[in-house]
Amino acid sequence: MYRKHRKLIFLSVTVLALAFLIWRLVRPLNIFVVTDNFARPMAVTRVPTGLDSLRAADCGECHKAIYKEWAASMHAHAWTDPYFQADRHFDGSQQICLNCHIPLQNQQPHLVEGFLDRERLKPVLRKNVNFDPALQQEGVTCAVCHVRNGVINSPYVSGRAPHPSREDKSINEGMGICKKCHVVSGKRWDTFFRIPPCGTVAEIRAGSSGKGIHCIGCHMPLITRPLVQGGEPEPVHRHLWRGGHDPQMVRQAVKFNLGINMKGGGAGAARLTLTNTGTDHYLPTGTPDRYLSVTFTLQRRGVTVKKKIFQLKRTIMWRPFIVDLWDTRLIKGKPQSYKFSWSGGSGPGVITVTVRYHLLAETRRRRIKYRNKKPLSYIIFQRRTAIGAGSRQNHP
Ligand code: HEC
Ligand code: HEC
Ligand code: HEC
Ligand code: HEC
Ligand code: HEC
Repeated sequence: MYRKHRKLIFLSVTVLALAFLIWRLVRPLNIFVVTDNFARPMAVTRVPTGLDSLRAADCGECHKAIYKEWAASMHAHAWTDPYFQADRHFDGSQQICLNCHIPLQNQQPHLVEGFLDRERLKPVLRKNVNFDPALQQEGVTCAVCHVRNGVINSPYVSGRAPHPSREDKSINEGMGICKKCHVVSGKRWDTFFRIPPCGTVAEIRAGSSGKGIHCIGCHMPLITRPLVQGGEPEPVHRHLWRGGHDPQMVRQAVKFNLGINMKGGGAGAARLTLTNTGTDHYLPTGTPDRYLSVTFTLQRRGVTVKKKIFQLKRTIMWRPFIVDLWDTRLIKGKPQSYKFSWSGGSGPGVITVTVRYHLLAETRRRRIKYRNKKPLSYIIFQRRTAIGAGSRQNHP
C-alpha cells in the first residue's frame, strides 16, 4: 500500500517534470528581459525652437560634417539595414525591436498604450497619427541622443547655437548615452546568463558602474574641424561609431604574433598568438552572431594536405534554458594561442595562416533567408610561409 503510494508520487513528479521540459522546448523563445530603458518608445516629440523638424537632415543643414559621418554609420542604418529587416521578420516583427532601432515615438507607426503581459513583450498598440516615415528611415538619429523636451542636450553649451541647448554631462560621462541601448540586462529565473537584446556589450554588466570604460573615447574620437559650416576649427567628436563593419577598426585592435618552427625532415609547428589590445570589452563583442576564425593550412604542390580551424565565439544553449556554455573570444589584454603542427613530407610546402572576422554565420543567414549583398566575413590577418623540406627556419 505504502509502496504503491510512493510509486504514484514518483510517477506524477516525472510526468510533471517532463511536461515542463517539453513546454520549455516548444514555448516561444523570449531571449531577453525587457527593462525600463527600452520598454517603450522615447517620448521625444517637441522640435527645438528655431529648427524645422527632428530629422537629422535638418541638423545637417548646419552640422554638415557630423551629418555626413552619421549618415555613413550603422546608427543611421539601424532601420534600413537589410540584415536587421530579415531578422525582424523572422522573429515575427515584434514591436520591442523598434525601441532601440527606431526609438523615437514618431519613428514608429503605433503608440504603446500598455502591456498585456507582465514581461512587457505584448504591447497594446494604437495608431500613431504623427508617425513620420522619413524620420523612421533615420534609425538612431541625432535627436535620440541630443533632444529632450524641445532642447538640444550636449555635454557643453557654446552659447553660439541658434537653438536652445542644455548642458548634460550624462551624455558622455563613463558609458554615457551608449548605456541606454548597448549595456542593458535584466534578471529572470530562467536565464542563467543575462543576455541583453542583440547580445550587445554583454560582458559589461548593466548594474556595474563601468568605471574606467569610456565608450566615446574609442568610438567617437576627436578631430579638429569647424563644428558648423564656416566656423573656426576646434576639437570635435567624430560621429562614425566604427565597429564590426569596419575591418580597419577591428585590425588595429588585435596584436598578431606568428611563430613557425621547423623540426627537420620537413616537419614543423606554427603558433599564432592573438591579443586584444584595442578594446575595453571582448573582441568580438556585440551580437552573438559575431565571431573570429583562425585557419591554418599546409599545402604541398598546390594541394591542401592538412587544415585546422579554430572559432572564437560565444556558444549559447537556448533551450530548455538559456545558458552561456562557453566563450572563447579575446578578453582584453589576455593573449590566446592557436597551434598547428605537421609531419615531414616530400618536397617544399606553404603554410597559410588566416584570421577572419565574421559578421554572421552562413547557417544563420540561410535560416532567416537574408540575402546579403556585402560579404559576411573579411580577413584581418593573413600570412603565407614557404617551408622547404628539411630546411630549418624560425620566424618571429
Ligand atoms: C541653423 C543651424 C543649426 C541647426 C539646424 C542645428 N544646429 Fe546645432 N549648432 C549650431 C551652431 C551655430 C552651434 C554652435 C557652434 C559653435 O560652437 O561654434 C551649434 C551647436 C550644437 C551643439 C553643441 C551645444 C551648443 O549649444 O553649443 C549640439 C549638440 C548641436 N548643435 C546639435 C544639433 C542637433 C542635434 C541639431 C538637429 C536636431 C542641430 N544642432 C541643428 C547650428 C545649428
Ligand atoms: C537608441 C539606441 C542606441 C544608442 C543610444 C547607441 N546605440 Fe550604438 N547601435 C544601436 C543599434 C540599434 C545598432 C545596430 C544597427 C544595425 O547594425 O542594425 C548600433 C550599432 C553600434 C555599433 C556597431 C557598428 C558596427 O559596425 O556594427 C557601434 C560601435 C555602436 N553602436 C556604438 C555606440 C556608442 C559608442 C554609443 C554611445 C555614444 C551608442 N552606440 C549609442 C543602438 C544605439
Ligand atoms: C548615438 C548617440 C549620438 C547620435 C546619434 C548623435 N550624436 Fe552628437 N554627440 C553624441 C555624444 C556622446 C557627443 C559628445 C561627445 C563628448 O563631448 O564627449 C556628441 C556631440 C555632438 C556635438 C558637439 C560637438 C562635438 O563633437 O563634441 C554636436 C554638434 C553633435 N553631437 C551633433 C550631432 C548631430 C548633428 C547628429 C546627427 C547627424 C548627432 N550629433 C548624432 C552622441 C550622438
Ligand atoms: C579601448 C577602446 C574601446 C572602448 C573603451 C570601447 N570599445 Fe567598443 N570597440 C572597440 C574596437 C576596437 C572595436 C572593434 C573590435 C570589436 O568588435 O571588438 C569595438 C567594437 C564595438 C562594437 C561593435 C560590435 C559589432 O557587433 O560590430 C560595439 C557595439 C561596441 N564596440 C560598443 C562599445 C560600448 C557600448 C562601449 C562602452 C561600454 C565600448 N564599445 C567601449 C574599442 C573600444
Ligand atoms: C535594447 C536595445 C535593442 C533591442 C530591444 C533590439 N536591439 Fe537589435 N541591436 C541593438 C544594438 C545596440 C545592436 C548593435 C549590436 C552590435 O552591433 O554589436 C543591435 C544589432 C542588431 C542586429 C545586427 C545588425 C548588424 O549590424 O549586423 C540585428 C540583426 C538586430 N539587432 C535585430 C534585432 C531584432 C530582430 C530585435 C527584436 C527582437 C532587436 N534587434 C531588438 C539593440 C537592440
